[in-house]
Amino acid sequence: MKLGIFVIVSIVWLCNCHGVLVRFSNSVCTTLEGYDGICLRRQQCEDANGISSGTCASDLGRCCLFQRSCGQSSSQNNTYFFNSKYPNTVSTGLQCTFTIIPCNSNICQIRLDFLNLILSQPDGNGNCIFDSLVITGSASGNVPVLCGENSGQHMYLMVDRTNPITITITTSVAASLERSWNIKVTQIACDCPTLAPNGCLQYYYSQSGNVRSFNYGTTINGNNLNFGNGSSVAGTRQISNENYGVCIGMVPGYCSIQWSQSDGETSSFSLSNDTAAASVLDGLPSNGLRGENCTTDYVVIPNPYFVNGTAVNADRFCGNQFPTVVTSSKPFVLRVVTNDNELGDAANRGFSLDYTQQACSNLGFMLYNMS
Ligand SMILES: *[C@@H]1O[C@H](CO)[C@@H](O)[C@H](O)[C@H]1NC(C)=O
Ligand SMILES: *[C@@H]1O[C@H](CO)[C@@H](O)[C@H](O)[C@H]1NC(C)=O
Ligand SMILES: *[C@@H]1O[C@H](CO)[C@@H](O)[C@H](O)[C@H]1NC(C)=O
Ligand SMILES: *[C@@H]1O[C@H](CO)[C@@H](O)[C@H](O)[C@H]1NC(C)=O
Ligand SMILES: *[C@@H]1O[C@H](CO)[C@@H](O)[C@H](O)[C@H]1NC(C)=O
Repeated sequence: MKLGIFVIVSIVWLCNCHGVLVRFSNSVCTTLEGYDGICLRRQQCEDANGISSGTCASDLGRCCLFQRSCGQSSSQNNTYFFNSKYPNTVSTGLQCTFTIIPCNSNICQIRLDFLNLILSQPDGNGNCIFDSLVITGSASGNVPVLCGENSGQHMYLMVDRTNPITITITTSVAASLERSWNIKVTQIACDCPTLAPNGCLQYYYSQSGNVRSFNYGTTINGNNLNFGNGSSVAGTRQISNENYGVCIGMVPGYCSIQWSQSDGETSSFSLSNDTAAASVLDGLPSNGLRGENCTTDYVVIPNPYFVNGTAVNADRFCGNQFPTVVTSSKPFVLRVVTNDNELGDAANRGFSLDYTQQACSNLGFMLYNMS
């Protein structure tokens, strides 16, 4: 019976970093702090500079927690990179680098979970000129630079063989703020079922969920967009120069996907055009723009239909309002594009969109989608 259980555990963790022969499986365990650790022998954990936090494998192993801070590196799966003394905050100017080393040559992707990521807001044009999080060394090419509030966001990075990936967080004394970060780093083996489709910066695989732009928020950026003539308007929360894909893993039996603006949040879609007067009151001018009228900052949803079955006949959406649309174009991808300035786009907040995959038996939709 015991042997049977052991075999099952080993199969579940096929994509395990620790191929070493031990009497128990080096599977993922939960530490006393509630983090993901790896079940190792106590000595193994110590040798790898981990912290033993609770037991695992029927008390044979220790749940080993890997935490690293500025200037350090890690080749351990499920390492947490945080500012020193986290959850204490950082108010000084610093440059902090952390290096992720693939734990073996069979790692294809790294998933970053920004459990906590609070940096200063971008300037009025959406450029991260004060604080920034910059990623280098990823085989995904250019990864958007981040700043502002990104707790709860995630990213997938492709790995180029055993080349390390570096995260550099810079904080500037020019902006006064209590910053903090705690980033979970998951290494994903090339044969692991949890790999994202290649090229997707973000990947969601639930039947329904919520997708937000980086630094999305309902409040406005405190930094202004200054014109040369001495006047200024409220700046944007959107990060400039982005061009990435958000993939939604198709759940078997679900053939189309509906996208809608998140309810109950002021400005849950404001990608271009002035969102509020310079005096910055909450509220939306009631106009959504589409297709050829979206040329600066927009999202793309291929071949969409309104819920009444009429084709939208445009796939770019911008402005200050988003209509509920459905598409059966596969794979399910939402693309996000922003340019390098916010002229004419005062006080934009970004987007919060809800998606719901719709069952293939949704005949109503299939009928009008056959035309
Ligand atoms: C790393 O841990 C995650 C669980 O947090 C697991 O899904 C993944 O397979 C592990 N990766 C490797 C390479 O062992
Ligand atoms: C300053 O320039 C902006 C952008 O060109 C314009 O909208 C605004 O009216 C100008 N303000 C003044 C006082 O000239
Ligand atoms: C809205 O933005 C579009 C381009 O993004 C621009 O052509 C249009 O003039 C703007 N409209 C207003 C009212 O600002
Ligand atoms: C773009 O805006 C113009 C002017 O408001 C409008 O006539 C046109 O239908 C719009 N195009 C799309 C694709 O919505
Ligand atoms: C379907 O909904 C869209 C968006 O609300 C509207 O513009 C269009 O006229 C509607 N079509 C029909 C046939 O009711």
